[in-house]
Amino acid sequence: MIEQARQWLQEATSIVALTGAGISAESGVPTFRGDGGLWRNFKPEELATPEAFARDPKLVWEWYDWRRGLIAEAKPNPGHTALAKLERSGREMTLVTQNVDGLHDRAGSYRILKLHGDIWRFRCTTCGSEWPDRRTPLPKLPPKCQCGGIARPGVVWFGEPLPPGLFAEAQHAVESAGVLLVVGTSAAVYPAASLIPVAKRAGCKVIEVNTEDTPMSEIADCSLRGQSGEILPQLVDGR
Ligand code: OAD
Repeated sequence: MIEQARQWLQEATSIVALTGAGISAESGVPTFRGDGGLWRNFKPEELATPEAFARDPKLVWEWYDWRRGLIAEAKPNPGHTALAKLERSGREMTLVTQNVDGLHDRAGSYRILKLHGDIWRFRCTTCGSEWPDRRTPLPKLPPKCQCGGIARPGVVWFGEPLPPGLFAEAQHAVESAGVLLVVGTSAAVYPAASLIPVAKRAGCKVIEVNTEDTPMSEIADCSLRGQSGEILPQLVDGR
């Protein structure tokens, strides 16, 4: 199966990779679902919704500050590096990620659509300005904007729309791609997961890389079971 997948990848002139938390698991960043997943121990409605933030911004920030600390310690793994290398192979490539950890950037990927935002960016809830902030731990919670307003993490919470135009761009990339690589996502969160059936309808080959079956495994043209840090280098480098 891996041989077939490698051949599709080599023949494709345009490639999209859709990644989820699983690609960063080998870097030590916790996933959301499954064993040890964040949503096993924390309630999303208390930490990752606009209502939760309005109720208790300090509590929400404490959780994000803790996660930023974990991510700051993490390094990109061979899965991230393999995708960065694939982009440098001269084909058109778009990396669509649900991850907010920034590990794809650090691995050297360039064209990245961050569907769920970026944990290293802030946005003011009063004036709407956005800026990067990599300090960890943050000196004071909740952090403030220069205008005096409360800053929020630059991520997408449950019940919020994706950043304007981003999903359309991802959809367009998938519709014109020869291969969609779906890596380390439970394919449980929409609209990100809907890119998979969009790809199928457009005649794009779907290659899934995951340690487990997902609801999309059945429609994938090829489902490779295992850790992305091992499988992606094999797919990209042939080793
Ligand atoms: P999940 O935690 O839902 O799924 C992680 C997937 O990675 C699972 O299918 C695992 O089987 C797989 N996995 C774990 N380790 C792996 C490894 N080493 N190699 C390959 N696969 C592995 O994470 P996402 O699908 O990214 O959204 O979750 C989607 C969204 O739900 C997140 O972006 C976040 C969350 O709530 C928001 O916060 C808006």
